[in-house]
Amino acid sequence: MAACKFQGTIVSNQFINKKEATKDHASAVVQAVITGRKKFKIKLPQLTTTYVPLPIPLIEKDNEIIVETESTNSAGKFGRFGGTFVPETLIMSLNHLEAEFKNVLHDRVFQDELATALRDYVGRETPLYHAQRLSEYYKSKNGGKGPDIYLKREDLNHTGSHKMNNALAQAMIAKRIGWKSVITATGSGQHGLATAAACAKLGLECTVFMAAKDMERQSSNVRLMKLLGANVEGVYGSFKDASSEAFRCWVEDLENSYHMTGSAVGPHPCPTMVREFQSVIGKETRKQAIEKWGGKPDIVIACVGTGSNALGMFHEFLSDTDVRLIGVEAGGLGLESGRHSSTLAKSEVGVYHGAISYVLQDDYGQIIQPHSIAAGMEYPGVGPELSYLKESGRAEFWAATDEEALDAYDKLCKLEGIIPSLEAAHAFAILDKLVPTLPNDNIKVVINCSGRGDKDVDILFNRRVVHDGK
Ligand SMILES: Cc1ncc(COP(=O)(O)O)c(C=O)c1O
Repeated sequence: MAACKFQGTIVSNQFINKKEATKDHASAVVQAVITGRKKFKIKLPQLTTTYVPLPIPLIEKDNEIIVETESTNSAGKFGRFGGTFVPETLIMSLNHLEAEFKNVLHDRVFQDELATALRDYVGRETPLYHAQRLSEYYKSKNGGKGPDIYLKREDLNHTGSHKMNNALAQAMIAKRIGWKSVITATGSGQHGLATAAACAKLGLECTVFMAAKDMERQSSNVRLMKLLGANVEGVYGSFKDASSEAFRCWVEDLENSYHMTGSAVGPHPCPTMVREFQSVIGKETRKQAIEKWGGKPDIVIACVGTGSNALGMFHEFLSDTDVRLIGVEAGGLGLESGRHSSTLAKSEVGVYHGAISYVLQDDYGQIIQPHSIAAGMEYPGVGPELSYLKESGRAEFWAATDEEALDAYDKLCKLEGIIPSLEAAHAFAILDKLVPTLPNDNIKVVINCSGRGDKDVDILFNRRVVHDGK
């Protein structure tokens, strides 16, 4: 079905029909010669009627031609994805936020304060850790050959995940603008926890919406959020319902409250802003890779809930076309079961929570309930920039099932003494399938270990020790 669905309404095929788009808008295929030998083609996605594409500049540097894949424009579009699909009443607040976001990007005082807080409060930079026993395990299963596997240790951040990079920066923006109260939604509780901590540090009120079932399965995070002074509101349904509830609450008090987006989703400028604050992950990785082995990673891998840790890692390497970018979605009970959260693998384009992206939906444009054992992966949409990276072919997307994630969690615990979050475990889970396909020589794989798994201990213990007797 080629229709583009807008929150339940099927908009005419013509609006998004690929043939029409090809006629009306140039479908550019940029072919760049990189380092004078490698050829790489980037296909620009087809465009909707309202969007004027940014030209993609070819930058020449040290005799290399670099494809600039920075794709966002002033309307917050990534190819045909993104934008601002919200009621008129929100436009002023979003414009205000966008202006402040642009300000702080170039504001020395803000940037210095953020850098200091990231270092002294969050604990950055996080290490790039050589997982020797995990690498040996895969070599031993692969005839003695296999990649060297490194972990970007976002699990070591204060509050235990990459979410803090974004929550802290946005809380600083809220305070700067003068908003007193922060409203947000969380799935796994990691973003809620990071927001609660950042608000406590900055003296802001904090309300976190969370689905009742997530409050139950991630109860340790609920307790921590409350200890940090946050007001946690339970919502019937899943993370998507908690997100909708946070939007509703924000709309009721636009003057005093700030809606904090926890991932690279939502209306412009949220996806760009979150990606910007998370891009520290990839920047550090590049620097650390040069220090450790004098080059770049060959492959970077990250789990994809809605996109923030994946983009945080990928963005730095977008124009390094010799670096493979792999995102791993939650395959749940299997892609054919209909019980999964693999939006990029199995969905259609639509508008959800304020932006155009891929969305899990039925033929009538109604949202299909996502499923994942990892609460933070259970969302029916995905960020517009990742949607663009899928459509342009720059990044590839795989899926790992609940069981594969549980196995990977177990493996990392036993081989490295590291307890990953169930979300991050999805990224590790594809190694079983990926490693046998790799050339044998000197491949460096970096996996973004987006969070630590203390919150998931009960799930693991019940599944593996009580149920499976392992
Ligand atoms: C530790 C961790 N990793 C990954 C994710 C997925 O979110 P995102 O795709 O925005 O990184 C979550 C979401 O809650 C999380 O808690």
